Amino acid sequence: MRRNIVAGNWKMNKTLEEGLKLIEDINLNIKKIDAKNVQIIVATPFIHLAKAVEKAVSPVRISAQNCASEEKGAYTGEVSAEMLRSTGVEFVILGHSERRAYYGETDEVLAKKVDLALAYKLQPIFCIGEVLEERKAKKHFEVVKKQIENGLFHLSEKDFSKIIIAYEPVWAIGTGETATPEQAQEIHHYIRKVVADKYNDEIADNLSILYGGSMKPSNAKELVAQPDVDGGLIGGASLDADDFCRIIEAF
Ligand code: PGA
Repeated sequence: MRRNIVAGNWKMNKTLEEGLKLIEDINLNIKKIDAKNVQIIVATPFIHLAKAVEKAVSPVRISAQNCASEEKGAYTGEVSAEMLRSTGVEFVILGHSERRAYYGETDEVLAKKVDLALAYKLQPIFCIGEVLEERKAKKHFEVVKKQIENGLFHLSEKDFSKIIIAYEPVWAIGTGETATPEQAQEIHHYIRKVVADKYNDEIADNLSILYGGSMKPSNAKELVAQPDVDGGLIGGASLDADDFCRIIEAF
């Protein structure tokens, strides 16, 4: 059975002190709600990870936001999948549109990162999504299919079953604009079909597909009510413990 997942992506926000305080607040708030049906993930900047893993109380689990495309060695400033795993982190976001757009991460580089993450037992949260011009030109189906094919379809069935996909239309990220529940359902359903065609129905049914892009307490419920929307990847609203936990309550 596929899991419902709410993942917060802090991006480049919060000092160490602020971040650890936010984890504590999330721990406290979650105790007050019924979060049995939801896996809760918080993706912090690298510098928080080791301490965040210690601070997070189950069911909160910690993710990185990126990892290196090489295994180890002379790559100044990079952080490897193995190093991440050594902090106790269990997940890593890969292919976020900000990484693709600002740091030139290509599908080829991302495929290498996916392999390294899996080799070091990190579960990738693999992001895909079209930009506004592509949506207007009705190319969004084609775009996400290519991103999945190039980044993930070299994986065996066993490895693919460890992947979480996050569909994030770039025009909705941090803009306050959200895909409508119908738009989200339409493309999530399509993504599941692409996966079923490549692998099989069981793998596609078990895949968690998260929606990302200005998800907030006021719109989470109608988005996650869609049959193929299994949760959210949340940026802005994950920086506030109350908002983040209100989104979790949407399940
Ligand atoms: P947002 O970011 O919720 O601030 O739109 C989502 C994301 O980039 O993962």
